[in-house]
Amino acid sequence: MPITPQELIANLGDLPPLPQVASQVLRVSADPDATAEDLRKVISMDQALTSQILKISNSAMFGMMREVTTLTQAIMALGFSTIKSVVIASSAKNLYHRGAVGLEERLIWEHALVSALASRAFARSLRFPRVEEAFIGGLLHDIGKSVMGVKFPERYGALLRTVYNEQGTSLDLELETFGFDHTMVGEALVSRWNLAPGLQAAVRWHHDPSEAPDGLRELPAIVALGNQLALEEKVGIGDPSHLQGATTQAMAILRLSEEALADFKEGIRDAIEQDKSMIAEF
Ligand SMILES: [Fe+2]
Ligand SMILES: [Fe+2]
Repeated sequence: MPITPQELIANLGDLPPLPQVASQVLRVSADPDATAEDLRKVISMDQALTSQILKISNSAMFGMMREVTTLTQAIMALGFSTIKSVVIASSAKNLYHRGAVGLEERLIWEHALVSALASRAFARSLRFPRVEEAFIGGLLHDIGKSVMGVKFPERYGALLRTVYNEQGTSLDLELETFGFDHTMVGEALVSRWNLAPGLQAAVRWHHDPSEAPDGLRELPAIVALGNQLALEEKVGIGDPSHLQGATTQAMAILRLSEEALADFKEGIRDAIEQDKSMIAEF
């Protein structure tokens, strides 16, 4: 039996906090009265973040037509919700890099980024209203793996290597070894960070979207599709066929036929191929 969330938190001890700038950005971008200037002030307190936002604004990911040189331009050009995604991406990157070491670390981060791009592309194709939420969901879906990598470096590193070599699935092995899996750990983290309920559901239920609470199943379903596509593109650890169950559930939730899914995937693969150029610079 999986352990309770309370036992899980007790087992994990302190969870990494969301960096202060990121939580302020979340607060400002959720405030309907906030202005671009308010957002600029918060972000400009962090020099590394500022230069990262400028770099990303000018990368292929957002396809800007002209060069963005100031934070104000970046905010105007990208909009609040995209800036929010970039800030969370940069926080997530630091977190992913504190997790599992070496090969696994890099693979997990690239998998997060490609899943985010794919989830966002699926959201667009499906006319899901909150495409940036799909991006963040894709980005954070496996964040529990990093937390486990930080908390249990030896045991979790060994587990990932087994999954990598034997092409098994991490979920079953995690449950067997720890009594909980990366989706539970991830949910504990993002609920601690007060992220939107849909995002919490996406992190918790990306392997079982139909188990998500009523009204919150679409985002986990979209992220499930993004997750599988990333593995199909050979970005990440694991065999995409192990995610077929999640994909079948996602198709039912999103009312997607085999043909429609195949059509979407074709377009999305091309888009990702172009976006991939920015993976190295992120
Ligand atoms: Fe996962
Ligand atoms: Fe994943």
